[in-house]
Amino acid sequence: MADLILTGASRGIGAALARALTERGTEQLFLVARDAVRLEALARPSGGRAVVVPGDLSTLQGARELGARLAGLVAPGATLVHNAGLWPAKRALTEDGLETAFVVNHLAPLVMQRPLLDTGLVRRILVVSAGLLVKGRFDAARTPTGRDFSGVRTYCTTKLCLALAMRDVAAERPEVDVAVLHPGVVRTDLGARPGPVGWLLKWVKRSWESPEVCGERLARVLDRERWSAPGEARWYFEETAQPWPPNTEDAATRQAVRDTTARLLAHA
Ligand SMILES: NC(=O)c1ccc[n+]([C@@H]2O[C@H](COP(=O)([O-])OP(=O)(O)OC[C@H]3O[C@@H](n4cnc5c(N)ncnc54)[C@H](OP(=O)(O)O)[C@@H]3O)[C@@H](O)[C@H]2O)c1
Repeated sequence: MADLILTGASRGIGAALARALTERGTEQLFLVARDAVRLEALARPSGGRAVVVPGDLSTLQGARELGARLAGLVAPGATLVHNAGLWPAKRALTEDGLETAFVVNHLAPLVMQRPLLDTGLVRRILVVSAGLLVKGRFDAARTPTGRDFSGVRTYCTTKLCLALAMRDVAAERPEVDVAVLHPGVVRTDLGARPGPVGWLLKWVKRSWESPEVCGERLARVLDRERWSAPGEARWYFEETAQPWPPNTEDAATRQAVRDTTARLLAHA
């Protein structure tokens, strides 16, 4: 039975995917999120096949500790699903002095996966990204600290950053199969806002796809033997492989994200 690490498993798409995978019974699951109570409730019906690994991806230290802990738990050949995500309404800084979504959506997954890759434990990585990455615009001087914060664009930019970084990971580690995927437009609490805007958003979301439909779709993607050619990450829109969007091909953006990420993670 292969091991599968799923971040953001406590709610929304992650919880639905965890339930779909539990029903299939083909993986030993490691469920990651901050809310241990919700994770325990998800793990209970699995008969011991789901292990709860509470962790916080909003600091580099938390991500490092999580990666080290997972590296001590999983067996070689594991699948890693980076699903945890944040769409913030306001600029907030982490204890590292960085914008929170830039950490949760971009830097923390890279820090967390390091020990798993360095020990050869992970065979493939699925990144639950967002089609909205096409709206991302990275500014090396301002994005990391959120000085260019926008209630919409920051989310898009942080999703763009991780997608670009994972393309580099795939190139550096051809033995790892990497897919970056838009999961669908799904009725979850992502981007929830207080007040009338939040109420309106909730109302609009009523017609969106249920997390269960998305969870089943992701489980089908996970069933595939292979996602990408060695040395390349592939971009999927739901279940269909597509050409990478134009802004993910921009050489200057790719270099800026690469350099900034390397600088910020040099001592992480
Ligand atoms: N919903 C959509 O339509 C949609 C569309 C495109 C892409 N996506 C992507 O799909 C993924 C899942 O989103 P969702 O819609 O299911 O959102 P959600 O319902 O808000 O769930 C987000 C998950 O991320 C976890 N998380 C957030 N901050 C964290 C932190 N600091 N440390 C650890 N875990 C953290 C949360 O767990 P805790 O709060 O328990 O920590 C939760 O399990 C995200 O990457 C999102 O960008 C969603």
